Amino acid sequence: MIKVLAINGSYREDGFTDQTVEALAQALVVAGAEIDVIYLRTYPIEFCLNCRACTQQPGAAPVECIHHDGMRELINKIEQADCYILAAPTNMGSVTAIFKRFMERLVVYAYWPWDMNGPQYRKAQAPKKKAILVSSFAAPGILGRWFFGTNKQLKMTAKVIGAEIVGTLFTGMIAKERHPKLPEGMRSKIKALAGKLVC
Ligand SMILES: Cc1cc2nc3c(=O)[nH]c(=O)nc-3n(C[C@H](O)[C@H](O)[C@H](O)COP(=O)(O)O)c2cc1C
Repeated sequence: MIKVLAINGSYREDGFTDQTVEALAQALVVAGAEIDVIYLRTYPIEFCLNCRACTQQPGAAPVECIHHDGMRELINKIEQADCYILAAPTNMGSVTAIFKRFMERLVVYAYWPWDMNGPQYRKAQAPKKKAILVSSFAAPGILGRWFFGTNKQLKMTAKVIGAEIVGTLFTGMIAKERHPKLPEGMRSKIKALAGKLVC
C-alpha cells in the first residue's frame, strides 16, 4: 500500500489548510493509499542551531540532529513515506513560522562540510518520490502563487527530501470569512490530484 505523509503547517484547527489536507486525505484513502497527517502546531520541534554537526558526515541518508525532539520521529516518517503533501498557509508572504522551523531542521538532508561553500543534498541522486504542494492566502490565486515566497519554499522542501512535484493546490481569496469552507467545486481537483500522487 502506498504511504502518504502529509505535513501541515497551519496554526488553525479546521482552517482552510486543515480542510484541504483532510479532503486530500479522504480522496487518497479512497484511491487505496495509507495516510499519516502531521500537524506541526502540535509537534515538538526545536529551532535549528546552525551548528552544522549533522552536515559534516557524508552519505545518502539523513544524519541525526543533536536535538532529541519530535524531528527524529518525523525524519523516520519522511524516510518511510512514498509521497508527500506539503501544506502551509501564506503568512506575511511566506510559509508559516512553524513550517519554516521544520524546513530548517531538514538540513540533516544536506552534506555540507565546513570547507564547502554550499550544501549538496543527500537525496539529489535518489529516485524521486512525489509531492503535492498546498497553500492558501487572501490574495487572488495567481498573484499568490507567483509573488509570495510560499511556492518557492514548499518546492525547496520537496527537493531537499527528494521529491518531485506532481501537483499544486494554491487557493486565493479565502480570508474574507472567519471560518472559510472548502468550496465543493474543489473536490474534483482534489480527487484528480490524489490520483496523481498514487499512480
Ligand atoms: C499573520 C497573518 C499573515 C498573513 N499574511 C498574508 C499574506 O502575506 N498574503 C496573503 O494573501 N494572505 C495572508 N494572510 C491570510 C492567510 O494566508 C489565510 O488566512 C490563510 O491561508 C488561512 O489558512 P488557515 O485557514 O489554515 O489558517 C495572513 C494571515 C495572517 C493571520
